[in-house]
Amino acid sequence: MIADRKNDHVRLAAAQHRPDDANEFDDVTFLHHALAGIDQADVSLATGFAGIGWDVPLYVNAMTGGSAKTGDINRDLAIVARETGVPIASGSMSAFLKDPSTAGTFRVLRDENPHGFLMANVNANATAVQARRAVDLLEADALQIHLNAVQEIVMPEGDRSFRAWGARIEEIVEGAGVPVFVKEVGFGLSRETVLCLRKMGVTVADVGGRGGTNFARIENGRRSSGDYGFVDGWGQSAPACLLDASDVGLPLFASGGVRHPLDVVRGLALGASAVGVAGTFLKTLLDDGPGALITKITTWLDQIASIMTVLGARTPADLARCEVRIRGGLREFCTDRGID
Ligand code: FNR
Repeated sequence: MIADRKNDHVRLAAAQHRPDDANEFDDVTFLHHALAGIDQADVSLATGFAGIGWDVPLYVNAMTGGSAKTGDINRDLAIVARETGVPIASGSMSAFLKDPSTAGTFRVLRDENPHGFLMANVNANATAVQARRAVDLLEADALQIHLNAVQEIVMPEGDRSFRAWGARIEEIVEGAGVPVFVKEVGFGLSRETVLCLRKMGVTVADVGGRGGTNFARIENGRRSSGDYGFVDGWGQSAPACLLDASDVGLPLFASGGVRHPLDVVRGLALGASAVGVAGTFLKTLLDDGPGALITKITTWLDQIASIMTVLGARTPADLARCEVRIRGGLREFCTDRGID
């Protein structure tokens, strides 16, 4: 049953993907200064957070594993990560924890990409021992814990019990043996949530905002009866989350609804240390194959550097000093939350 669900997620996420859809990243614009430009040769994409260094501020976010078909997708994603040098996360490894015969569909992420930065992924019900098993299987450099209460609620077979998540995260932080990154799956992390995560000793909060892949809609599409009413519009976008939690003092990653290189630069300018992409890359992989995704990511990295050149930002951290303008729904959100 898990294998069927994993195949459904891939199919429905790809069907849902429309690269030209507007989202709140559009509410972030840069003030153009015609004399601010620098030489692209002086731009470095390297980023750092919590003592960890990455060559690029872009990563492939958690997607899949757990069935034969999704194991093939993981093989392709791992090859893409190896060839482009981008860090990559595994999809949820619950399937492996329940059924070790699925191990190969995840392990391929390490076998094909022996030297890359790889993140294991578990849910917030996992015990520290299970988290450690997931990390060990992948020889992972970090562990993602995903928070997906909205998805679980819409899923007929989903979880209905979330109270223990905080305590579980603390246990995992204690016992995982690698840095722990906590992520949403497309509904965003509020400032209050990021504060809790900081107190729990988490290394990074990946805001996983609204505006891209919508798991409420995906799970609604899998229901045989009874539509859920709250599939659209729930949660906060990645730009809103970054603005909301900018002063918490925990490194932030931006993800959810990233469509093109300008969105990556916007996320970095709003203070993210790195930007994650799932649906946009999955769609390219499924439609056009791993070669096309390698070309896409290589092009994105070049264009991120070009935009930084025009903005006069030598490093991703420099982007946070660029002047951005906030408008539309994002400005309303800032006003409501008392953000200057
Ligand atoms: C996901 N995502 C996800 N996240 C997670 O932590 N564990 C998982 O198993 C999955 N599975 C999954 C499957 C598929 C097919 C997709 C497209 C996505 C969520 C993903 O990591 C990300 O948080 C959201 O998709 C929002 O980012 P995008 O897709 O808008 O870039």
